[in-house]
Amino acid sequence: MSWGMIATWRMAHDGVTQASEALSNNGQAGDAIETTIRTVEDYPYYKSVGFGGLPNAEGILEMDAAFMDGDTFKIGAVAGITDTKNPISVARKLSDEKFNSFRVGDGATKYAMLNGFERKNMLTQRAHRIWEKRVEEIAKSNLSPYDGHDTIGAISLDTNGSMAAGTSSSGLFMKKPGRVGDSPLSGSGFYVDSEIGGATATGLGEDLMKGCLAYEIVRQMGEGKTPQEACDQAVYTFHDTLTKRYGKAGAFSLVAMNNTGQWGVATNVEFTFSVANDQEKPAIYLANMGENHQTIIEPITQEWLDAYEKRIKAPID
Ligand code: GLY
Repeated sequence: MSWGMIATWRMAHDGVTQASEALSNNGQAGDAIETTIRTVEDYPYYKSVGFGGLPNAEGILEMDAAFMDGDTFKIGAVAGITDTKNPISVARKLSDEKFNSFRVGDGATKYAMLNGFERKNMLTQRAHRIWEKRVEEIAKSNLSPYDGHDTIGAISLDTNGSMAAGTSSSGLFMKKPGRVGDSPLSGSGFYVDSEIGGATATGLGEDLMKGCLAYEIVRQMGEGKTPQEACDQAVYTFHDTLTKRYGKAGAFSLVAMNNTGQWGVATNVEFTFSVANDQEKPAIYLANMGENHQTIIEPITQEWLDAYEKRIKAPID
């Protein structure tokens, strides 16, 4: 039986590589999601997820995460959770709850503490300094405060044919307290059905929610489209519709995998992702929106990776 995993952004790659090893040895789809997302949440130089994530306008780091089991449709989610080491693990645990499975703010943090999850100050000095600098810049100029919403979203398929999905994000940099994006919202940030496939999103949550694109991609795969056809059709059609009717489409990118391990991607900005299955070794690709509603996908170059490494670790003065 085939297995596979796809996840958003270059930052997912180490986790995808680790989870792929487990999936190829009959590891479980839900475990693959949790492993992958925890590696991103734990890495201090990724400034849009977990430890090291950028805070809201008041300097508080509020995080969102979700987990979905594609066999049972169980979903757990947290929004605006604070001081908690791995929001994805809290979301996964919540997916076992029949009621109260989506918790926000203090309710989410209290749930994590009461259930033995590790309490941790997730705001690094580096993230705090980036926030301070942005506050100074905004005071000096008319700069838009909003930036950076690179969510980790992942879809996995195991050799039993089970699928799972997960997301984790610190959301939009400088968001207002209590603002929640697409990442913990079923259908917008993620969706998975083991009998069809799954999809997950990264990008501007306010616009992703307008299209419920993760669900739309799964729905189209269910009608027989390949993941790539479903991504191209759902994402670019919505990009055009939103541009026409709302005046502008924010940045968004989606990845999908079906229940045979085939995958697809669509994006309206330059976007990286990591993917592996029983036919393809874990690899990072670069995607861009091409003409005629098709995605251009190319292998990442060493030059790109070197520049990325330098950029995320650049000193903050
Ligand atoms: N996509 C993450 C967010 O908008 O919060």
